[in-house]
Amino acid sequence: MGTNDISILAIESSCDETSASILVNGKVLNNIVATQSVHEKYGGVVPELASRAHQENLIPVIHEAITSSGISKEQLSAVAFTRGPGLMGSLLVGVSFAKSFAKALDIPIIEVNHMQAHVLAHFIDDPKPEFPFLCLTVSGGHTQLVLVKSHLEMEVVGETQDDAVGEAFDKTAKLLGLPYPGGPLIDRYAKEGNPKAFNFPVTRMPGLNYSFSGIKTAVLYFLRDQLQEDPQFIEKNLPDLCASIQATLIEMLLIKLKEAMKQYQLKSVAIAGGVSANSGLRLALSELSRRKGWNLFVPKFEYCTDNAGMIAMAAYYKYLKGEFSSMDVTPLAKMKF
Ligand code: KG4
Ligand code: ZN
Repeated sequence: MGTNDISILAIESSCDETSASILVNGKVLNNIVATQSVHEKYGGVVPELASRAHQENLIPVIHEAITSSGISKEQLSAVAFTRGPGLMGSLLVGVSFAKSFAKALDIPIIEVNHMQAHVLAHFIDDPKPEFPFLCLTVSGGHTQLVLVKSHLEMEVVGETQDDAVGEAFDKTAKLLGLPYPGGPLIDRYAKEGNPKAFNFPVTRMPGLNYSFSGIKTAVLYFLRDQLQEDPQFIEKNLPDLCASIQATLIEMLLIKLKEAMKQYQLKSVAIAGGVSANSGLRLALSELSRRKGWNLFVPKFEYCTDNAGMIAMAAYYKYLKGEFSSMDVTPLAKMKF
């Protein structure tokens, strides 16, 4: 490690994953993630429990990231952290730690926008997308179509006006009696089901925006009616129900994605965020891309869900441009880019 080497410790603590990563000269060396299981029995993330778990997990996770990287903390050039968007208490744990650690080491801090970092997860490994490209960022908290012009120049051209698609997966899964987070379980059952078995409405919003709150209500009323006739309706039809719900959500995602690709005359498309792990979405998008002749970019699974590797990657580009934060920076529950 010479004096010109850039080594960054990055911290992610916006929701229910505590993560730390070390990046050296643009290469992510590791990505340590502690997932919080404390929320499972509550059917969703409990903010106060999340902040407490971050407090417990943060130092062990950072310690592991530093020791397994082979560099010492004195060799770090900067400390990066997620400033927002996310849960206020959870963000606060990461931001406070980053500030004090950087102060002790006398190095700068770099704030990162979590949603921008999800897009930049595509630059951790090869092949990397060429600019401009469209990124569909789909997570438990967000659903965005992002026009990516350069590493740090991005524009949200469409987004959900209510629930995120991940929330739609999780809430409909809950109606089916599946534990939280239900998205991966819907994915699993859908593989054995018929996506055309049941019809749920496809909500169409103006422009490139989305709305996912309607499907939850549609599924609720549909199940209520069916369960009156047959109390075992869900058990008997679980794979078909999951496949039909998943197919409706994927259709809604892809309608607007196609419109955006056309509107901005793009040839490359990427997906990011927890829901991009969905196998039905991956398959549908790869078939669509083949038909349209688009280049498709899908990150490795560990970089789809919340992770500090993507925070480190975003921080690296900011470091190169000299974009550091002041010590009085505060977290933001809502944050635009
Ligand atoms: O990006 P992420 O890890 O955290 C947030 O920032 O929200 O995304 C979590 C979301 C959850 O809603 C979860 O159910 C969903 O991603 N998810 C999936 C799958 N894996 C994770 N949804 C559908 N199919 C999957 N395979
Ligand atoms: Zn996320």
